[in-house]
Amino acid sequence: MTILSVSSPAPLPAPLGGTLVHRVQRPGHDVDLAELRGRPRLELSDRARADLELLATGAYSPLTGFLGEADYLSVIEHLRLADGTPWSLPITLAVGREEARHYRGQVVLTRGGEPVGTLDVQEQYAARKSLEAREVYRTEDPAHPGVAALLAGADICLAGPVTLFTVPRGAFPGHHRTPAEVRQVIEARGWRTTVAFQTRNPIHRAHEYLHKVALELVDGLLLHPLVGTTKGDDVPAETRMRAYEVLLEGYYPSARTLLSVYPAAMRYAGPREAIVHALSRRNYGATHFIVGRDHAGVGNYYGTYDAQDIFSAYRPEELGIQILKFEHTYYCKSCGQLVSPRTCPHGADHHLVLSGTKVRERLRAGESLPAEFTRPEVAEVLQAAYAAQD
Ligand code: ADX
Repeated sequence: MTILSVSSPAPLPAPLGGTLVHRVQRPGHDVDLAELRGRPRLELSDRARADLELLATGAYSPLTGFLGEADYLSVIEHLRLADGTPWSLPITLAVGREEARHYRGQVVLTRGGEPVGTLDVQEQYAARKSLEAREVYRTEDPAHPGVAALLAGADICLAGPVTLFTVPRGAFPGHHRTPAEVRQVIEARGWRTTVAFQTRNPIHRAHEYLHKVALELVDGLLLHPLVGTTKGDDVPAETRMRAYEVLLEGYYPSARTLLSVYPAAMRYAGPREAIVHALSRRNYGATHFIVGRDHAGVGNYYGTYDAQDIFSAYRPEELGIQILKFEHTYYCKSCGQLVSPRTCPHGADHHLVLSGTKVRERLRAGESLPAEFTRPEVAEVLQAAYAAQD
């Protein structure tokens, strides 16, 4: 007699490239300590530190290290790695021309002088900064924070596979999970479909609306706030996480929601960054990814829906994650609910739209935020954080 399994769990989406990269290795166990002694040392920036973790834990699968020149140019010019795999941001590690001469073979990567991993330098090449700025950021304007970081950075890219010694659990140990750990949670909860949400801003009602519309369609929600470096006037990650915690407590179904941090730094590369945001969330086990208005944008450098349109550069099966595209969402006083141009017949004078800049101005002035825009529990967290700054 054959016993049929009634509900076998759905397989999670395969990581990009087929295998989840795992390059976390312990010194003294997987890494020969004696070999590390006397090797050149390289102190990582916050962003490089975050990239090291994302590479080593497989969030950037199939990348195993900082990009070599063929991949670098191919990503910039064709939105693909040299072997054709979709990828849109150059993940590079640059050092000064003089310094570069010291970095041959195995290099010890440090933070605050402490070894955190290694880089096996297989290649060195010059960064093409203006090409990168034009193609990746769509501007060479040094006022763009991503372009500014690129221009301020060093000139010679070191390329090769990395290893990470310990996954840093950082400021949010209770919410810090590697892609393999997020996959385990998804599996344990039996979600057949999971929508991931990238964010770098304090949660507001429009975000919540996107989450809840998505939750009508899929089993689970991976709230995945970016907690790496952001530009100076963005709200700090600690405040944003606190806001998430209070909101989840009161308004989200806990069995269908997972709050976990995404350790990357923001590049503000709009459409290009949206692609890596989606691909890396596939590596975390998500089947769907939300892209709303001006995703990962800054100022007026990108069109409102450029970050949605760019996905047409790939076939759906290449992406391996479904993009849920949302139009600009806001509160309509006449509808009495969150709406978008797809659902609301009323004109702009019926709508409550507050830009991030306006919100920050109000908070700095000690003013409250309308409940239709931000839930009072979240507004309280934001007000307390701004008051503490004064
Ligand atoms: S981002 O840099 O991480 O994209 P943010 O945290 O503001 O910034 O946005 C997170 C996600 O929500 C993005 O996909 C963005 O497009 C979407 N989004 C934010 N606000 C709105 C809105 N009012 N309407 C539709 N989508 C939005």
